[in-house]
Amino acid sequence: MGQEISSPVHTPVLLNEAIEALDVQAGGRYIDCTVGGGGHAAAILENSSPGGQLLGIDADPEAVKTARVRLEAFGKSVLIENNNFINLEAICIKNDFMPVHGILFDLGLSSLQLNSGGRGFSFQHDTPLDMRFNPEQRVSAADIVNTSSEAELAYIIRTYGEESCGYRIARCIVRERPLKTTAELAGVIEQAVPRRGRIHPATKTFQALRIAVNHELENLEAVLKQAVRLLGFEGRLVVISYHSLEDRIVKRFMQQESKGCICPPGTPICICKHTPCLKLISRKVITPSPEEVNNNPRSRSARLRVAERIITQDEWCETADRLCFLGKADAGGRKKPSIMMKERLKTIAVN
Ligand SMILES: C[S@@+](CC[C@H](N)C(=O)[O-])C[C@H]1O[C@@H](n2cnc3c(N)ncnc32)[C@H](O)[C@@H]1O
Repeated sequence: MGQEISSPVHTPVLLNEAIEALDVQAGGRYIDCTVGGGGHAAAILENSSPGGQLLGIDADPEAVKTARVRLEAFGKSVLIENNNFINLEAICIKNDFMPVHGILFDLGLSSLQLNSGGRGFSFQHDTPLDMRFNPEQRVSAADIVNTSSEAELAYIIRTYGEESCGYRIARCIVRERPLKTTAELAGVIEQAVPRRGRIHPATKTFQALRIAVNHELENLEAVLKQAVRLLGFEGRLVVISYHSLEDRIVKRFMQQESKGCICPPGTPICICKHTPCLKLISRKVITPSPEEVNNNPRSRSARLRVAERIITQDEWCETADRLCFLGKADAGGRKKPSIMMKERLKTIAVN
């Protein structure tokens, strides 16, 4: 998200769109992998009442505290874990929380994190250069800024910040370090590159450092595969991202997993044996309305993508075999799934 001062309360982005994309139903079971201030989670719980359940995850212990208070009224319908979503499958197994009807990721950081003193996410406040979602992580932004080589810094700033002046900024950082605070770093960047328009020249470098500190792109790549495995038949995967690097990962993943053969073009016969496990619900990315951007300028870069879990032919056969074995379906289900089979599949983990 951009670097602007805003209210200390986090306003959930694309809220109605996310609830619709998740197709939230009474009695459904949902996971919010980035529970943050609990805004999306509260709406999911309200819309899945009666009987809905939600597992909320956040890497930031402060966010978890806020979410617990916000969601207290939902009692036993909600379970909140302070953990990194890279451990999603393990968390679900531990809590016996699978399969699920929908999984939401609302990536990036919240207004609470951006505005809270001492976290180092924003150059609007002069605080130590930290940027860790979880203070128990080993490496902070100060470690990266003060110990990386010039080439490493330039790579981080150019790749994760998509900053064309990455080399120049890296050179200035190396010359001026040690840099301990957000104001010191922002000051060096301001000297290195001229201000272009309204955007502060340090914006992209701060984004780059945050992504590097928290391994945001690697974690996203790895968790999407886990999420698909946790979805029941027709379960929805919904991801809200805030910059093109995240959105590209989500778009590619959903496109690839909704295709059959993914062999390189020109391959005479299919060797990949890839079968689709997702169906795209909306081919076009969903963005906030002008009213939402007006009311909440931080929403302007948000992009929502949604896909639905489908069952591959192999999974049909395997599950039908299991149901036949248990005496819960007849062998006919193996070839053409009946309505009854479809309903059963919604409640049975597909893997
Ligand atoms: C944009 S905020 C979510 C706001 C939330 N949807 C709401 O309505 O309040 C993103 C949250 O994701 C968390 N987060 C980012 N990466 C994470 C990860 N790998 N594992 C767990 N939580 C993560 C951040 O700590 C932050 O609280």
